[in-house]
Amino acid sequence: MALHPSIASGVSEILSRLGDAKVSFAGQRVLVTGGAGFLGSWVCDVLVAQGAEVVCLDNLSSGLATHVAHLHERDEFTFIEHDISQPYYPEGGLDCVLHLASRASPMEFDKHPISILKANTLGIWIALGIAKAKDARVMYASTSEVYGDPDPRFVPSPETYNGNVNPVGVRGCYDEAKRCGEAFVIAYVRQHGLNARIARIFNTYGPRIRSEGIYGRALPRFLDQAISGKPITIFGTGEQTRSFTYVVDEVEGLLRLAATDNAKGKVVNIGNTVERSILDLARAVQAASGTEVDLVFEPLPDDDPLRRCPDITKAKQILGWEPTVTLEEGLVPTVAWFRDQSA
Ligand SMILES: NC(=O)c1ccc[n+]([C@@H]2O[C@H](COP(=O)([O-])OP(=O)(O)OC[C@H]3O[C@@H](n4cnc5c(N)ncnc54)[C@H](O)[C@@H]3O)[C@@H](O)[C@H]2O)c1
Repeated sequence: MALHPSIASGVSEILSRLGDAKVSFAGQRVLVTGGAGFLGSWVCDVLVAQGAEVVCLDNLSSGLATHVAHLHERDEFTFIEHDISQPYYPEGGLDCVLHLASRASPMEFDKHPISILKANTLGIWIALGIAKAKDARVMYASTSEVYGDPDPRFVPSPETYNGNVNPVGVRGCYDEAKRCGEAFVIAYVRQHGLNARIARIFNTYGPRIRSEGIYGRALPRFLDQAISGKPITIFGTGEQTRSFTYVVDEVEGLLRLAATDNAKGKVVNIGNTVERSILDLARAVQAASGTEVDLVFEPLPDDDPLRRCPDITKAKQILGWEPTVTLEEGLVPTVAWFRDQSA
């Protein structure tokens, strides 16, 4: 089964960048929870291509079996359908556990808050227990949402900013779950000396991201709307900002963080530092998709953060990483993939 060209070229690019940085998982056995998701499936592709043995665990709640279907023919790849918030005892040794399992879209905060809470509390606890038993290193996929609606004095947000989160708001299930997940990771580092680290991931896009309808993430929703000739729905005035990281940059950063010996107990922002307004994003999507659909404005959802931008000084220092793909560049393969999905 051939990979979509936008994914094949992205995976090659990541392999080449990791090769240059001498980051390799070859010969390692890696558990990827959430491996059938958007980011998880890119991670699985790169790890298998590097010569790692990958155990991909996913309950297929928001991921798709088709994202990893092409890997089934590889002896180095095993797929386990399982909910990581339930006990799991993997056979054999493990060198590394990457915990990415969690629904992650705003639409799901409303519909599935309990499963999100469980994946990032019970789920990370189970993943940490596995890593402890196997003496494996861990990387936890946390989020920029731990910063909540940040005080403007802390934008760009450094890892030392403790955030501004409403625990009982509609986003609380995700933001607080991730904050608790981070506390679990650091507790295992402190109490058991586990070699674990935390990635705070900022909005990432690219081929395989799901659009998930009207309340999904802004960028894939806009693409879906533009490509199908529907008006682009902007919540609020569109002046709120986000920073958008192309999947190739993000996965490179995540794997560098997972591999480095220098990150035990560390929290690192992995995101693009170029802050773009949502209105600006909508115009970039119109241009990239070659459509002139209308923009329509709807009320801003509760607790929607006004600004979001990382300070990535730490990622540069520890990982020698920074993103290189502009929004306009990253939209080209993303549009190609969206068009082929809707064809
Ligand atoms: N994509 C982003 O912009 C972004 C930003 C910040 C953080 N993150 C984090 O990165 C991780 C991956 O995000 P994504 O964008 O790939 O989302 P995704 O929804 O595409 O992938 C998540 C995967 O986890 C699986 N999953 C969910 N709950 C599970 C459970 N209890 N047991 C087993 N599998 C489970 C889903 O089926 C899915 O395949 C998530 O933890 C997310 O919170 C992503």
